[in-house]
Formats: sequence, structure tokens, C-alpha cells
Amino acid sequence: METLLNTLKKLLLTLILGILFPGICFSQNMVSNNKEIAKKVDSILTLMTLEEKVGQLVLYNGSWDVTGPPSDVGNKVKYQKLKNGEVGAMLNATSVEGTKALQKAVVENSRLKIPLLFGYDVIHGFKTIFPIPLGESASWDMDAIKISASVAAKEATAAGINWTFAPMVDISRDARWGRIMEGAGEDPYLASKIAIARVNGFQGDDLALNNTLAACAKHLAAYGFAEGGRDYNTVSIGEYELHNTVLPPFKAAVDAGVATMMSSFNEIDGIPATGHKGLQRDIVKKSWNWDGFIVSDWASIAEMIFHGYVQDRTEAAERAMIAGNDMDMEGRAYDTSLVQLVKDGKVEEKLVDEAVKRILTIKYRLGLFDDPYKYCNEDREKNEIYTKEHLEIARDVARKSIVLLKNENNILPLSKKVQKIAVIGPLADDKDSPIGSWRAQALPNSAVSLLEGIKTAVTSDTKVEYQKGVALGVGERSFIRELKLNRADFKGISGAVKVAKESEVVVMALGEEAFQSGEGRSQVDIELTEPQQQLFEEVYKVNKNIIVVLMNGRPLAIPNVEEKASAIVEAWHLGSQSGNAIADVLFGDYNPSGKLPVSFPRHVGQVPLYYNAKNTGRPSNPDGMVFWSHYTDEKNDPLFAFGYGLSYTSFEYKDLVLSNSSFSNGGNIKVTVTVKNTGGVKGKEIVQLYIKDHFGSLTRPVRELKGFEMIELAPGESKKVSFIVDERLISFYTANKKWEAESGKFTVFVGGDSLASLKSDFLYKN
Ligand code: NOJ
Repeated sequence: METLLNTLKKLLLTLILGILFPGICFSQNMVSNNKEIAKKVDSILTLMTLEEKVGQLVLYNGSWDVTGPPSDVGNKVKYQKLKNGEVGAMLNATSVEGTKALQKAVVENSRLKIPLLFGYDVIHGFKTIFPIPLGESASWDMDAIKISASVAAKEATAAGINWTFAPMVDISRDARWGRIMEGAGEDPYLASKIAIARVNGFQGDDLALNNTLAACAKHLAAYGFAEGGRDYNTVSIGEYELHNTVLPPFKAAVDAGVATMMSSFNEIDGIPATGHKGLQRDIVKKSWNWDGFIVSDWASIAEMIFHGYVQDRTEAAERAMIAGNDMDMEGRAYDTSLVQLVKDGKVEEKLVDEAVKRILTIKYRLGLFDDPYKYCNEDREKNEIYTKEHLEIARDVARKSIVLLKNENNILPLSKKVQKIAVIGPLADDKDSPIGSWRAQALPNSAVSLLEGIKTAVTSDTKVEYQKGVALGVGERSFIRELKLNRADFKGISGAVKVAKESEVVVMALGEEAFQSGEGRSQVDIELTEPQQQLFEEVYKVNKNIIVVLMNGRPLAIPNVEEKASAIVEAWHLGSQSGNAIADVLFGDYNPSGKLPVSFPRHVGQVPLYYNAKNTGRPSNPDGMVFWSHYTDEKNDPLFAFGYGLSYTSFEYKDLVLSNSSFSNGGNIKVTVTVKNTGGVKGKEIVQLYIKDHFGSLTRPVRELKGFEMIELAPGESKKVSFIVDERLISFYTANKKWEAESGKFTVFVGGDSLASLKSDFLYKN
């Protein structure tokens, strides 16, 4: 009787708390839900044989799409293993029909009917394609980024997928690295916010819905620091950089509840990431108390042999399992060796159990045990993919991702009454490149080209003359094959010059094709190809009103274009609606608001180049001598700085006020600035807060982004923007090997980019 009363009391309390504080009730529900799941997982585990347990740790490729070197397991063998319950997940298997067939093989034949996960690289859209992640990051618009991920999740889950290998949260400072296109740029603060937005977008509020999927923060860790920018290359970074720069976006993803992570291909200071216990088991799982699972990258367990870290697959499996890597993607290490390793006592069975539990937990959270076919709905597949609504969202996200880099004499926006526009360049009528790398199920040539976008935007009074001018200089398009260089062909230049001469203005689309960036696409050269440079030069001789539209997957070094073009519009690879989104900006239907998430070098020799660098012992040359940290043949600073981006209006920053000149342990100060729209049109501005920590137990960057807010102002309108600076914001991973704030002097800078000069000092005492 007493227990019943107690239960009733508890129920009543939960009800009251739920009404007063809905959040608390929700998290209590989550806790009890997690407990329920843990119980179920434990009870399944007791039923499993060692072979079935190891099976859950195996991820096979679906064979009809390849995103890495194929392994030697034939389809027949895979199918039999599915039926035996010896496979936990598949990748690159899409479509309701395809995934249903595979799920059926498991559910109808295996002893325990544990449903499969279906993983896929849904990186920036499924069939409706959004801007490449680097481009989308230029929006600094967390709502836009979140909605883009949620549309991608909606479409992918309508085609049988329940796990995306995204977001890639690797920080990169190297424009040569092809995968820079897939991340959020160079800054850990911005990248952390973006990681949260993307995880929330993919996973939604409830992983158990049929239109959300499990996200995967990748690649753990430091993959973006590959030496020389060469993909898969060695990484040698110290503990300081690892904790302060590389790991924060992973931690942010964990705080947002990310379901899974993927280990990276690279080694870090001699240890391949996939076999790195410190990273996987100690930091991510133990110290962050994270309960998701870690999947290897494609064959990265077995690749530890090539790294020279293990002698064979068996040893690779042993090291990876001990290090905390839960699932083997096409590595043929766990499926061939793990059972025996446990039998031989080389790997404790409890490690296998832990990995299985983590994987089953995610399967439960997705609701797969309730309905293994929940993502196999033909109606959804027919009606919820590539819809008008999704394309409209893609257009909006695309225009928000554009960065206006130059606009001399306000040549932009163009009047829709302009009589003759020359649209020139190898990317001007390209309907495929704007889809970008990692394009999931996008149809080839399905993007709106720039030419199409311009033609739709203008009235019939405007004559639009198109000339390709030159080919890009790179060959046939393929995700898996090497790019071939075409012989330079300059024949089309004369035609381009002719139309340029007769036009009021030239819109010239230059840059890179889709597969010049992405996995395995590193380049030593980050300039425009020679034919493009010639085209620009020759056209410039006859018409100085050139608006360059850049389409690219990495920062490009374009000093000549920067000097001569009247305007530069950074349009990345913007996805399905590229041409319409660019036209929105060119003709002023959208006032550009994007800011660079990455520095643009003047020359490849400056790379790695990033704003939050260290001062060095010799930062300047007061006496004109040569003995300071610089290049003798190029400036140190970037062509375009991190955080930079123009608008069709202008903003003035003034009245920077700090609520106090110091604060201590537990306190904070409020930083307030007044921003005014001093131009003639309504516009959005991303107000950025940077902090410099003058001294530290370890040296500190010259400044670091610590806050930003997007505001919209009408002409003449002013707004006060405030940021709270507290210990959390000024903490870093110190010489004590922990995150803490150190006493000392700090400077805040507020402005519209990382060069912001409006500043004020404060002191902190712990
Ligand atoms: C290798 C890539 O590094 C990874 O990001 C991707 O998710 C897998 N292949 C699967 O395609």
C-alpha cells in the first residue's frame, strides 16, 4: 500500500513538474526511456552468441555504389552473412526496394532478427541538393543550416536510409585539402555551432520518428591537418591543438546528442586514429561520458597495416577493439578475426559486449526494433523527395550562403533593365558542377545553371549573350576516378571577347568543377586554371565591368581577379538551385549576407593560413630588418579574411561598452556595441565578437571568435547587440591539461570580420 502511495505521489509530482517545467519532464522521460532501452539491450545481449555479437560490429558496402576501394567479400557471401545475423549495418544501399530486401533477409532468416542500420553519405542533401557544407557554413545562419540537414534527413529516410555519415566536423586550415569543402571551415567556435545545427537538423527532437536519422560526427580526429594538404596523409599535432582546435566541434556534437562518430584515416603523432585509445575510449567515451558508437572509416582498421602500426588484420582488429572502435566499415578485420581473438583471450569479451550494446542502443533509439521497415515506405519515397517545397528551401539556403567579396562602385546589384549582359565562362552554363562533390542521389546535370538563373530573372528587354570561352581544363567528371587534365584550349576566347565588347556588363563564372574537391581531391595549385586566367585577361581588355562569380569547393588564390574585377561573388557549389540563388543576389532580390568561414590566401605558399594563429616571437619589423616572421615575396595576410563579406548596404560599429572592466570567478561582463545601417537598403549583418587572451600558461592565438549574432537593419536603423563574456568563453585547454580560465588581461574586438578594430580591454581573476 505504501509503495502504491509513493508511486502515486511520484506520478503527481512528475505531472506538476511537467506542467511547470516541461523541459525537466522531457529529460526525465528520456532518462527512463534510456533505462528501458538499456534493459532491453542487456537482455538481448544475454541471448547472443559470440558470432552474432561480432556480426553487429560489421558494416558492409551495398556493392552498387562504391565510396572506397572495394573489399573482397562477394555479394553471395554478404547475403548469406546477412541471413546468419552476422552483419550489423550496410552502407551505400539505398531505395525502399533495396533496403527492404536486405532488411528482410535479416529479419526473416536470422535467429535474433536484429534489424540493420543503413548508412549513407548524405552530406548536403539527398536528391534536393543544398550548398556544399563549406558554402553553407558561410551563411553563419544556424536555422538555415539546420533546416537543410532536416530536409536531407527527410529525403534520405524516405529512401530507406537511417544513418548519415555527416556532419564532417573536421577543422581545416588548408585550401589544398580537397575535403575542406565538406566541413565548416577553420574556426572551432563557428564549427561547433554548425555541428550542433547539423546534428539537430539530422536527428530532430526525436530519433524515433521516421523522418529523422542518426548523425555521425566525423572524422575523429585531426583529419583536416593532413601534412601538405594531401588527403589521408600523416598528422603531427600536439595536445594543445588537438584539444583547443580539433576536438571542440566533436564535443559540441556530443552535447547535441550525436548518435555516432567515425574515426579518421590519418595517424596522429604515430598512432592511427582508428587504433587510438586515448582519443576514442579515454576522451570521447569516458571523459565525455558519451554513449554513442564509433565506426571506422572505410577499411581504416585494416589500413593500420599500411601505416606500419600492426602486422596483420588480426592485430589490427585487436588494436581497434581495445582502442574503442565499435564497428568495422569494409575493413574485413572484425569479421575475420574478432571471434578468434576473444577465444584466444587477446580481446576481452566485455569489450565486444560494450560495442554491441552501443550499437543496439542506437538501433533501439531509432525505433528499428519496433518496426524494422519503418523507413521503407513507397509513398514517402514517391512524394517526399525532390519536392517543390524542398527546392524552395534549397534556393533560400543557397542565397544565404553567397559571400560578396568585392563590389567596386556598387556595380551590384544589377538593374533588371540592363540592356545587354554577356554571360561568359566555363561554369556559366554548367548544370552539374554546382551540385558539388558528395552529391548522394542528385541527378547529373540537375542544377539550375547561372545562365538559366539570369535568363529567368531578367525581362525580355534584356539581351543575354552566352559564351563559354574556355573549358575548365579538367576532364570527365567522376566521383571515383582521377580527374584528367584536358589540353588547354583557347579557341573560344575570341567569341567571348566579342560579346563582352558589345555588352554593358560581363558576368563571368570561373572556378572549379565539382570533383576538383572532395575525398582524394587534394591539389597543390589553388589558382584558376590557365585557360580561365587568359579568358579573364582578354575580356578585361575590352570590358572593365566584370562581375566574377566564383564556383569552388575550396578557397582559391585569385589576386589578379581581386585586383581587376569590379565585383566578386563567392558562390561555392550551391546545389540544385544554384543559378536562381546567384541571380537573386546579382539583381538585388536578396541582399548578400554571407561571411567567409575560412581565410582566402593570396598564394598557395601561405597555406596553412588562418586568422586565429599565434603571434610568434617576431611578429613585426619595427626597424625594417629582415629578421621577423614573414615571406620575402608575399604578404602575410590573406586576400580575404575569415569572417569577411560585404552587403549592398554598409554598417557602422560604434559605442563599444563593457559593463565592467574586470570580472572574477563565477562572474561575467556584458559587451555591448551599437550597429547602424548607414547605407540605402535593408540588410543583414553578422556581428562578430573576438577575444584576445594576452598571456597564458600556453601561448594563445592573436584573437579567437567567441560570439556572433545575425541582425537585420533597415536603412538608418541602429541596434544594440550584446554578448556575455564569462569564464566558459575564455577557458581553454591549459598547461594543467584541463579546460579552465586563467587570470590576466583580455581584449574584446567587435566588428563585421576577423580584422575588427573596435576594441576594449578587461581583466579576469580566477
Ligand atoms: C570514406 C570517407 O572518408 C567517409 O567520410 C565516408 O563516410 C566513407 N568513405 C563512406 O562512404
